[in-house]
Amino acid sequence: MAEFTKLVPEYVRTLAGYTPGKPVRQAEQESGVRCIKMASNENPFGPSPRAVEAIRAAAEQANYYPDNDTVDLRLKLAERFHVKAEQVLVTAGSTELINDLARILLRPGLNAITSRLSFIIYPIATKASGGALLEVPMRDNSYDLDAIAAAIDKNTRLIYLANPNNPTGTIFDAAELDRFLDRVPENVIVALDEAYSDFATYFAGTRGVVYSHALQYMRAGRQNLVVLRTFSKAHGLAGLRVGYGFGTAELMGYLGRVRTTFSVSSVAQAGALAALEDEAHVRRALDNNAAGATYLTRAMAEMGYSMPPTWANFMYVDIGEEAAPVARRLQEEGVIIRPLAPWGAPNAIRVTIGTPEQNELFVSAFRKIMEVPSGEYQVPR
Ligand SMILES: Cc1ncc(COP(=O)(O)O)c(C=O)c1O
Repeated sequence: MAEFTKLVPEYVRTLAGYTPGKPVRQAEQESGVRCIKMASNENPFGPSPRAVEAIRAAAEQANYYPDNDTVDLRLKLAERFHVKAEQVLVTAGSTELINDLARILLRPGLNAITSRLSFIIYPIATKASGGALLEVPMRDNSYDLDAIAAAIDKNTRLIYLANPNNPTGTIFDAAELDRFLDRVPENVIVALDEAYSDFATYFAGTRGVVYSHALQYMRAGRQNLVVLRTFSKAHGLAGLRVGYGFGTAELMGYLGRVRTTFSVSSVAQAGALAALEDEAHVRRALDNNAAGATYLTRAMAEMGYSMPPTWANFMYVDIGEEAAPVARRLQEEGVIIRPLAPWGAPNAIRVTIGTPEQNELFVSAFRKIMEVPSGEYQVPR
């Protein structure tokens, strides 16, 4: 019999797997009611119709392998963001890039740094590479960049920063990142994860904040910064698995070599290209998201729950009691949200901002479960 305890390294055997948001079909089978999913920060309007059309057309050619260099999409992204094509790498979701960064930069004895209560893939990616992960405490539900800079040691090779952060929805602004980057040694790579950049840019415009200089850094040839983006959020293509990163041509080249060959399917490339063209679809999602954030913030405040202002397409709520049973009861009412015990926040939930109808359904289910007397509040309009 194979002795897997000897074959598989301990850091792999002890890996905690990813806990995904519950799929609608599974929740419906469990609860016996129709469910809506507000658990995985997806676009509630679905993909752009133009993307769907391109996906259908590409499906006809699915007998052929995809373009492994994703040339059309890379050129389009380079043109859109005014960077060189060699600075762009397209991957199977930004998750693939998060993993590949750890794979090429870490090994046993080296470490990565991130914040506590941040994206749950960072620990998995880091530990799977054999490296250690230092998780620095937060300050006011936000990244504490000073503490992260202070935690860098001679074995640090990689820093993951989620901006906005998942699950708290908070950001650090462009000036804060500038100051932080001044403190990071050249041989430490900063992976700036801007999966929710479309939402943050929108909110920044309405709130008078400068959100990010990330692309200026790329155009200026900054060596130790990689910027991660995705088609999974504002563009509504989470199921297709397309993300991308910007970095130096040299680093993108190394990442391209370890990337799983053909990981971005031809259908995904076609869908992403078409989605980039449909700015009206993205705009609709962003407008709806801002209105939904206002509505949910007010409705929750009326019920006595405050939350950090969101810069993304979800709300983080500390409900002051164990969240897992509340999530189960919400599911019985037909609403799937994310209880955050796997993130280390057992009293918190994360709720994706949905359509107006979905948001109202969540609010009325939450009010019922938390037994907020209906006379005491009115859902604001
Ligand atoms: C902060 C952050 N980064 C990256 C991702 C991964 O996105 P993708 O679907 O591109 O792998 C997510 C998805 O939830 C996220 O929240």
